[in-house]
Amino acid sequence: MEIIRLAREEDYKFILEISKLTWNGEDYLHKAFNSWLRDGNFYVLEIDGNVVGTVKLSILPDRVGWLEGLRVHPAYRGKGYGKKLHRYIVNIGVKLCEEGKIDTVEFATHLLNKESRKMAEDDGFKSVKRFYFSYREPLEPLKFEKSKIRMEDIWTEDYIPYGWKFLHKTQDSINWLNENAGIGRIENYKFIYSLQDTEPSFFPLDVSREGLAKIIRAMSYYAISQGKKSIGVMIPQGSEDVLSFLIGQGFESMVDFKVPDVLIYRLK
Ligand SMILES: CC(C)(COP(=O)(O)OP(=O)(O)OC[C@H]1O[C@@H](n2cnc3c(N)ncnc32)[C@H](O)[C@@H]1OP(=O)(O)O)[C@@H](O)C(=O)NCCC(=O)NCCS
Repeated sequence: MEIIRLAREEDYKFILEISKLTWNGEDYLHKAFNSWLRDGNFYVLEIDGNVVGTVKLSILPDRVGWLEGLRVHPAYRGKGYGKKLHRYIVNIGVKLCEEGKIDTVEFATHLLNKESRKMAEDDGFKSVKRFYFSYREPLEPLKFEKSKIRMEDIWTEDYIPYGWKFLHKTQDSINWLNENAGIGRIENYKFIYSLQDTEPSFFPLDVSREGLAKIIRAMSYYAISQGKKSIGVMIPQGSEDVLSFLIGQGFESMVDFKVPDVLIYRLK
């Protein structure tokens, strides 16, 4: 029997298994499990008593339903289950829109994630913004302080990257990030960072060469302290000067920096 239902505590062992088999064991699904259970809108696909897939909708500030946590156990991939879970959660999002609880549904994925892009486009999403994602091994670490952000710290036009989530640039989002995100400061240079993703990634709030160089080392400190082997950074399309600095610092891109490779999708 096949059923999509809300996740329950006893599903953890299945979630841990899926997590271990995804992204070379670097998946954060099992780490997010408890907070996603508490938060709600966390669904699993159960087949004959085994949980083989997951999906989550999180309500972000600015009334956005954010889709994440779409996973199918490798042994069950390519059979249409991903698409079923995706469609199911999109319908939950549409219902929340109709009830006036959110205004839209969004999510982000990598350009090379063909399955995910296919599902998005089939389910009526359109790509509204792109970012560059790049990564490298940690550099020489530099200890940093915790900090808070203000609207004037944000230099992007419309989205604030927080790992692989992207929040609309509003005061509510700033408040949310101050509550939920990592905000670091090294000298006067601040950055937003997330450790929940596969690799700890950051968004620099200062993009001067000196600022970036220090932020990269501060982020390296954080990654090393968490036993992580790489750091990632999100940069909006149109910031090619920042990219050339990152390339000079040994950052790599899965698409050789030819195009911005992270797509934010919004339900039309
Ligand atoms: C992404 C994932 C959930 C897909 O699950 P799945 O059950 O294998 O997906 P489906 O079988 O429903 O396939 C989804 C669609 O992608 C299409 N697809 C699969 N491989 C494809 C490829 N290489 N190129 C283009 N489309 C492809 C399928 O044809 C299908 O579309 P269709 O039904 O119109 O033919 C699964 O691969 C997974 O868990 N990956 C790791 C985690 C991940 O990347 N999650 C998404 C993060 S945004």
